[in-house]
Amino acid sequence: MKHLIINASRKYSHINRNIYGHFSEHLGRGIYGGIYVGEDSEIPNIHGIRQDVVEALRYIKVPVIRWPGGCFAEYYNWKDGIGPKEERRRIVNKSWGGVVEDNSFGTHEFLDFCELVGCSPYIVGNVASGTARELSEWIEYINSDDESLMADLRRKNGRDKPWNVQYIGIGNENWGCGGQMRPEYYADVYRQFATCIRTCGGTKPYKIACGADGPDYKWTEVLMRLAGNYMDSLSLHYYTMPGYYTTDEYKWEKKGPATGFDESNYYRTLRRALFIDELICRHKYIMDQYDPDKRVSITVDEWGTWHAPEPGTNPAFLYQQNTMRDAIVAAVSLNIFNSHSDRVKMANLAQMINVLQAVILTEGNKMVLTPTYHVYDLYKGHQDSTLIESYVQQDMIGTEEAQVPAVHVSASEARDGSIRVTLVNLSASESQRIRCLLCSGEYHFASVRYISGEMNDCNEFDKPPRVSVKTMPDIQIEDNSFIIDIPACSVNEIVLR
Ligand code: AHR
Repeated sequence: MKHLIINASRKYSHINRNIYGHFSEHLGRGIYGGIYVGEDSEIPNIHGIRQDVVEALRYIKVPVIRWPGGCFAEYYNWKDGIGPKEERRRIVNKSWGGVVEDNSFGTHEFLDFCELVGCSPYIVGNVASGTARELSEWIEYINSDDESLMADLRRKNGRDKPWNVQYIGIGNENWGCGGQMRPEYYADVYRQFATCIRTCGGTKPYKIACGADGPDYKWTEVLMRLAGNYMDSLSLHYYTMPGYYTTDEYKWEKKGPATGFDESNYYRTLRRALFIDELICRHKYIMDQYDPDKRVSITVDEWGTWHAPEPGTNPAFLYQQNTMRDAIVAAVSLNIFNSHSDRVKMANLAQMINVLQAVILTEGNKMVLTPTYHVYDLYKGHQDSTLIESYVQQDMIGTEEAQVPAVHVSASEARDGSIRVTLVNLSASESQRIRCLLCSGEYHFASVRYISGEMNDCNEFDKPPRVSVKTMPDIQIEDNSFIIDIPACSVNEIVLR
């Protein structure tokens, strides 16, 4: 038996709800088919936006969505996506598969979609092939309530009130698809763009600079030194690519299959996912040198598993299945983001629908909620609560090559005084008996919801779901202590009242 200690009298940072955010790009079926089907579709829709998807996203309280990319953002001209649909420019999506992009989903559609979901929009500006003027006009179009040229254009296109969009990304992966820039050069370009983006309609932009590719600590150091004073946040991208050795032991593949993997691949995936803790610690350490008051936040605006595409699908569409392994990755990552919520104020899973580690898969009029979706359901109560102290006794498990902790925990106190503990059992095969000790307060019962299964379990179209949220009978708490058995390969939400 392991001991879990929860101490609500030791309070840490506020858990910003945006840590539970998402990312959706013009990539594969992420937007078209996944979110937008058009008004003439037989699939129930609201002005072309899928009703089933909106309802599912509202249920998990999606707080923020990042759009239009990704690499796509760096070739996007927002003026292509406004005005009458039949007059919108058709372009080729050179970033993702060379397919035709008819721009029928543009600024109005995205911002209407966010209103339907009840979340904040996060817009990424084009730095590599766009200009500071284009981005500042886009913001004027979206946010201005003056008699200005761009605000008038918006009114002409049917939207009277401004949308008041706060989150603005200045570029995406400018060390890669966003211009192959060196950090010193990007820092200057960033300063130029940041200066041109002004408050419009009373909404002060929250400026997010392009951050490092995983462990590129130099990027963070240079950006903080040269441009730290001009940003509200610095992003970070990190993908979990479990990989495998092929028959030729020297050949290393970064991406392995999304399903049908073995235990060594399972533990290697979890090991790589847990690495994000070290990454954030080290980037934070650098940021602390330049910004000890933590004014500049970290936005982990692309993270998640990146497996090989599903056989038979367009490889440029990055469509992958989603198993309990992905759910465990999501759960430990979200626990880690909570633990760094003094600096991490937003995180966006890549990508929301039909792309990479999606929470929803669609096929025509069908929709599947993935195991990762259910993690967001189990974790939604952490949003806007306060991180509190938690500690769990540990064994290391896994394979010789990839050792991981057996259990992983995060705990928070909600505004109503209830405590939420999210407890993950990383073992593929062993359940865990845990004695939970509550160091302060007085609690009477614990309600538990969970998902569990075999590591390869996933939800498929036209089949009953293998992974769904289940409830345990309430547990009586006596003398601020109780025992819980958590199944192998499971994610558990325990609410103490
Ligand atoms: O999420 C897919 C791609 O991964 C994004 O477009 C890019 O920013 C990243 O490299």
